[in-house]
Amino acid sequence: MSEPLPLNIGLCGFGTVGQGVWKHLSANLAELESRLGAKLVLARASVRDLKKKRAIKVPAKALTDDPMSIATDPSIQIVCELMGGTTLARQVTLAALRRGAVVVSANKALICEHGPEIIATAQRHGGHFFFEASVAGGIPIIKALREGLVANRFPRIYGILNGTCNYILTQMEERDAPYAAVLAEAKRLGYAEADESLDVDGWDTAHKASVLTWLAHGVWVKTDQMIVEGISRITPADFKNAAMLGFGIKLLAIITRDFARNEISVRVHPTLLPEGNVVANVSGVFNAVSVTGDVVGTTFYSGRGAGQDATASAVISDIVDAAALLKHGKGAHLLGEVAASPRNRGRLAPPESIRSRYYLRLTVKDQPGVLARVASVMAKQQVSIASVIQSPADQPGAASLVLTTHESNERAMGATLRQLRALAAVLDQPVLLRIGDFE
Ligand code: NAP
Ligand code: HSE
Repeated sequence: MSEPLPLNIGLCGFGTVGQGVWKHLSANLAELESRLGAKLVLARASVRDLKKKRAIKVPAKALTDDPMSIATDPSIQIVCELMGGTTLARQVTLAALRRGAVVVSANKALICEHGPEIIATAQRHGGHFFFEASVAGGIPIIKALREGLVANRFPRIYGILNGTCNYILTQMEERDAPYAAVLAEAKRLGYAEADESLDVDGWDTAHKASVLTWLAHGVWVKTDQMIVEGISRITPADFKNAAMLGFGIKLLAIITRDFARNEISVRVHPTLLPEGNVVANVSGVFNAVSVTGDVVGTTFYSGRGAGQDATASAVISDIVDAAALLKHGKGAHLLGEVAASPRNRGRLAPPESIRSRYYLRLTVKDQPGVLARVASVMAKQQVSIASVIQSPADQPGAASLVLTTHESNERAMGATLRQLRALAAVLDQPVLLRIGDFE
């Protein structure tokens, strides 16, 4: 009997993720090939700098500094885009899809920005686009939404989607570690994006929230249609205050759908979570996703959200799916996108209408009448105060005021913040955090 034709794999990008894919795929090749009944060949990889030293050695003839030559190579059936960015990565992805190749991507920024074009190109040319590694690292959350939970509609999905931020927040909370030092450590460990502001300013989480929203609700949401706030203004004092109130702090993506009104809301912000909440107890580089389906109820997923091994695990799962598709034809993951079903489309709720309880930290002059002035601003906006803690601030003559509110909305809190900033007694930029009531 003749040997089956090999399936050639090309990696555009051979950094943290690319080298992890090469390492773990090589180590598990025989096992995967026997399960697939297909021969897999790691054929080529591209880098920017051919002279850079790499932990994983590959034959010199397999390396190129021209990723487009891999994307357009007709002998390569599976092209993995593992470079990052949205310009060259888009060109490489589209070029591979236009010739009917399968593209595997870990690039959530690209999917958020150019998802509709990529999916349309794949459909037009008979190519396929897989992206398990784009959200929540090693957690198979894309498969869970597409396949395992296909019977469901999703009133709520929320969770920690950025390993770097969760690592930083955990180290700050547990070790009182300085922000800059922990961020440098996250970079060294291969968790952070090349542009770290994507992580710490919440954009990476927003890109991932966009991918999940599309999968769950068939709507592409851009980051400028969401509330997106990062973690850079959170201080050790916020962790202490939150703990005093019975909360932890996590950077969350929150995607909700009110099916009665057919409204979807997507937001990313640091959130106070009750200490007993399972997501509040997920630490370090781990991600966690809570998915509530109308049929299944609430399900929960946790695992490493960033780093070489976890991400390689997700990319290899896509490579194997791609190989099974090329060898055996359609699989369950190709049932059609939720986007194709009009029943599933919803409209975006205006961000100002989002309701929540709030935590507000102010540094104010420690003088008579200041608390009354703050309370009066909040009362004017119909924001009802639930608790107040006053303690001495670092600056002489100043006090730290921590207020929590009963449920209010973004419009009222936005107006409250603007008026508080204008008070002479308010010394620093206020810190506003939302409280997550998910149970
Ligand atoms: P990385 O370590 O910076 O690797 C990027 C690779 O692409 C490098 O080999 C680099 O070449 C190459 N490259 C970058 N720009 C290029 C250009 N303009 N022309 C040619 N080659 C170029 O990044 P990474 O952490 O592996 O991330 C890759 C992708 O996976 C990104 O989309 C990222 O968001 C995503 N992702 C990363 C993780 C993670 O934990 N790291 C997790 C999930 C998803 P050189 O090596 O020569 O510089
Ligand atoms: N920088 C990302 C993170 C990589 O820290 O979560 C995984 O997508």
